[in-house]
Amino acid sequence: MSRIEFNNVWKEYGRHVVLENLSLSVDTGEFCTIVGASGCGKTTFLRMLLGEERPSRGEIQLDGKPLRDEPGPDRGVVFQRYSVFPHLTVLQNVMLGLELEAAPLSGRLFGAARRRASEQAREMLDSVGLNQALDRYPTELSGGMQQRLALAQTLVMKPRILLLDEPFGALDPGIRTDMHKLVLQLWQQIGLTVFMITHDLYEAFYLGSRLLVFDKLRIDPQAMEAYGATITYDLPLANVDQGTIEGIRQHVEEEVPRAVEAAVN
Ligand SMILES: Nc1ncnc2c1ncn2[C@@H]1O[C@H](COP(=O)(O)OP(=O)(O)OP(=O)(O)O)[C@@H](O)[C@H]1O
Ligand SMILES: [Mg+2]
Repeated sequence: MSRIEFNNVWKEYGRHVVLENLSLSVDTGEFCTIVGASGCGKTTFLRMLLGEERPSRGEIQLDGKPLRDEPGPDRGVVFQRYSVFPHLTVLQNVMLGLELEAAPLSGRLFGAARRRASEQAREMLDSVGLNQALDRYPTELSGGMQQRLALAQTLVMKPRILLLDEPFGALDPGIRTDMHKLVLQLWQQIGLTVFMITHDLYEAFYLGSRLLVFDKLRIDPQAMEAYGATITYDLPLANVDQGTIEGIRQHVEEEVPRAVEAAVN
């Protein structure tokens, strides 16, 4: 079984320690949801997994080999907003990755290769429920549809690891519920490993098979940037009781901001 391993990973920007001494091992097919106070380094963690940032110390391994530190097709990402190209139609947005993969210089495919890419893109758009909107432009789509498009655009490249950075944070609650169903369905169908950051604890518990809480173990009131966050809870989500959920909710939503505020004032 393939694995992602973080071995004593640190991330610093100059003297600012963002993440400290992170160790973690994740198996294929796990759905890790990530919560933590704003600014504690969750996106930084995801960007290291993506290969956009490299650890200052320590190592990240994929299947026992050091992670290639550049974004590759084995890892796909969806952000809260703006991951689609506004000047391309829905279908063109999803075909683009396939075209660039097959023809890196021109980004153009012809004949049978083009038809194959178009078929794959249509299939993917079908599975996210956008088969009626192939020729529309992103500005002509609702927020939920745009995120469906972003998911299709990412998943058509057949990543093994899907990285989601608050992908539903900007959506209305009803639409969010639809997106939850869709993501669970795609996760089960495709057998992906998922890392998803969310500010919504209930979303984290509902979607994840494992919860990672990022938090600082130490705070220096004189130097807020001296210590970084690490993983303070790592919890399988099969049979979590309500008391534990409530404890973590209080910790993330109340105690952490209070501690930071007290330290700053
Ligand atoms: N390229 C960079 N250079 C310098 N500092 C950075 C860089 N990227 C992130 N940081 C800093 O690292 C810290 C963590 O940022 P990050 O975006 O990972 O937090 P986050 O947990 O995702 O926050 P939020 O919940 O608000 O999205 C912040 O203090 C941020 O200013
Ligand atoms: Mg973030």
